[in-house]
Amino acid sequence: MKVFKASKSLVSHLSSQSRPLGFVPTMGALHDGHLSLINKALEQNHSVLVSIFINPTQFDNQTDLENYPTHFEADLQKIEKINGNISVYLPKAFDVYGQNIQSKSFDLGGLDLIMEGEKRSGHFQGVATVVSYFLNTFQPEKAYFGEKDFQQLRIVNHITQSQKLKTKIVSCPIVREKDGLAMSSRNALLTETERKFAPKLYESLCYAKKNAKHIQYGQLKDRINDFFKKYDLLTLDYFRITNAATLKEIDLEKPVSKGRAFIAAHLGKIRLIDNMDMS
Ligand code: PAJ
Repeated sequence: MKVFKASKSLVSHLSSQSRPLGFVPTMGALHDGHLSLINKALEQNHSVLVSIFINPTQFDNQTDLENYPTHFEADLQKIEKINGNISVYLPKAFDVYGQNIQSKSFDLGGLDLIMEGEKRSGHFQGVATVVSYFLNTFQPEKAYFGEKDFQQLRIVNHITQSQKLKTKIVSCPIVREKDGLAMSSRNALLTETERKFAPKLYESLCYAKKNAKHIQYGQLKDRINDFFKKYDLLTLDYFRITNAATLKEIDLEKPVSKGRAFIAAHLGKIRLIDNMDMS
């Protein structure tokens, strides 16, 4: 495994690697969800690059950035264990941004202003800035993103189309714990009691899927709201079913025959998100 702190030496190294190159961007604190992306990249490419970079511009909240878990040594060991030939990009912010640690301004077609974008102002401009930098600098044939962050995946698709990038975006299914909780680096920050309540997000998505075809969407939304009111520890941020491509909310008066359900909730100080295909 070769670890690079500077993109310049990494680009030079990649020029000697056989293609296609598969790229997996992460913010570290790697879990089985991340590893599933790396494994898929290994299956589909001759060379694989993983980045570990806690991108400051996508955090709308300084405390969230400061509390983000860092386990770089353990991350490198996990990658090495999967395959010793993977290249790793582990930069400091200066290598990505120079002196000016700021997002660029992308037209994301409004996909950045709803749900996570509405709750976390500027978040997706930060994601778009760093992902666009990675794809333009390393020019991978394929890049791997998890459906766990479905809105992010849609936005990355939007960037590659609007910037006419040659990278193909590969979407990967959500990896869950045994009790249904979607794996996330933030799960490690939950207290023991909070962790017990965390699968309620998944439970409510399953309830939505089971009932979506039989009741109106508006009624379903009310039921999910009521479900969350029963738990003091949990505060529902939003529950929404949208068209999977446009992310536009579906008609409140119609039953849900297809679409994607999204949920975000606070559990103590931690904010969790999840989503599920409704068809
Ligand atoms: P991070 O949260 O570290 O996630 C890296 C990738 O792993 C993302 O594509 C995410 O969707 C995927 N992932 C996380 N949990 C998953 C799970 N349980 N199942 C499947 N895939 C999962 O997302 C980011 O980092 C950043 O925004 C980044 C794209 C790296 C840009 O900074």
